[in-house]
Amino acid sequence: MDRIAITGGARLKGEIPISGAKNSAIKLMAASLLTDEPLRLTNMPRLADTRFLGKLLQRLGTEVSESVGTDGAETLLTTREIVSGFAPYDLVRQMRASFTVLGPLLARTGQAKVSLPGGCTIGARPVDLHLMALEALGAKIEMHEGYVYAQAPRGLKGAVIRFPINSVGATEHAILAAVLANGDTVLENAAAEPELADLADCLNAMGAKVAGAGGRTIHITGVSRLHGASHSVIPDRIETGTFAVAAAMAGGEVRLTRTRSDFIQPLIDKMVEAGVEVTPQEDGLTIKRDGGRLRAVEIETGPYPEFATDLQAPFMALMTLADGESVVRETIFENRFMHVPELGRLGADISVQGDMARVRGVEFLTGAQVMATDLRASVSLVIAGLAARGETMVNRVYHLDRGFERLEEKLGACGAQIRRLTSEDATEEVE
Ligand code: UD1
Repeated sequence: MDRIAITGGARLKGEIPISGAKNSAIKLMAASLLTDEPLRLTNMPRLADTRFLGKLLQRLGTEVSESVGTDGAETLLTTREIVSGFAPYDLVRQMRASFTVLGPLLARTGQAKVSLPGGCTIGARPVDLHLMALEALGAKIEMHEGYVYAQAPRGLKGAVIRFPINSVGATEHAILAAVLANGDTVLENAAAEPELADLADCLNAMGAKVAGAGGRTIHITGVSRLHGASHSVIPDRIETGTFAVAAAMAGGEVRLTRTRSDFIQPLIDKMVEAGVEVTPQEDGLTIKRDGGRLRAVEIETGPYPEFATDLQAPFMALMTLADGESVVRETIFENRFMHVPELGRLGADISVQGDMARVRGVEFLTGAQVMATDLRASVSLVIAGLAARGETMVNRVYHLDRGFERLEEKLGACGAQIRRLTSEDATEEVE
């Protein structure tokens, strides 16, 4: 298994181009199941998660081809025919969001059998709201032996669906199913993350009628068929925020390009409060920190536009060296403090009580062997390693590869001392 070795202490200087959003790309790929014409996605990130979904889509009947164009990496997806409505456990468990193929399969063919998902081990992460939405649209759902069997032989029907909480996945799933339903659908208390608006933009380019995505109420007028389209994936706001925090942790001056600063405003506000210089630009932002200790701040995660839960672990890594006690409250996922004991191995002083972590800033961190437990936790360990004394070795980096494109290359280009040890190197070392 690959590992990443970081020698802390190097200041960063340079530019990092941000990739297309992983969380958008995978839902957009699933949208290709809704039409028999080609869907061309540009500014695509090349990640383990997009590869997993590509494999699953091929199994369902999608032709997937990859190339490089003027707007970055491209993926062309064509599903002339659904050859199978069966998404097996082996493929779905690798990435939770694969479950989202259920809605499009049902909308296009009237039936599907999809495994319940696996995914990151952050809390229970149920799919009850996904199923509630599909049932409201008229699907008959049964569950046996870890599989969801869904049927809508006479097609899906528009409905008014009110979500009890803001769920990104369930809102996206409902949209993907409702675009081909008969009649109008209204989604109330929908998730408002930018990836929702991106999905709606792509579907509208394919001929769908989705209005209000990116707000709490979404109106969808069902159409009988969708056609092909070309769509550029929005920038990855989580990658943007993560590199912003990495630059602040290491110190120096880093410009993040091909992205949008407004997607991470709550993070920027907290970074500025902590003493980091952040300058928004038209195509991104510049992060500058000249040394001196940061100030401790309090954060609380929430649905967009609040502080993103996916940036909680990276921000906590930054606060381990701040002056004073920071309080971090996680309101979206239970069990999302798995990075805490690993940060502790580097010398961080953090205690957790329920959904709250208290981070008492220390003078310095010291490199150690640490283990990545989920995607966002792993990158927080890399960030901590950038400022720790000596070498930090992050094990099990396959989590990082799920969500970050060329992480070590992007940070290395700005002067970080970071390298990947492949499984072969690792075996040699053990021997
Ligand atoms: C997506 C993102 C993930 C991000 C999260 C919150 C993708 C691929 N992943 O995950 O990176 O951390 O949004 O911004 O886009 N819930 C239920 N029942 C459901 C569905 C969700 O109770 O059927 C709960 C979850 O347990 C959680 C909350 O709703 O407590 C929000 O989860 P949700 O927004 O659905 O997250 P994901 O779509 O899984």
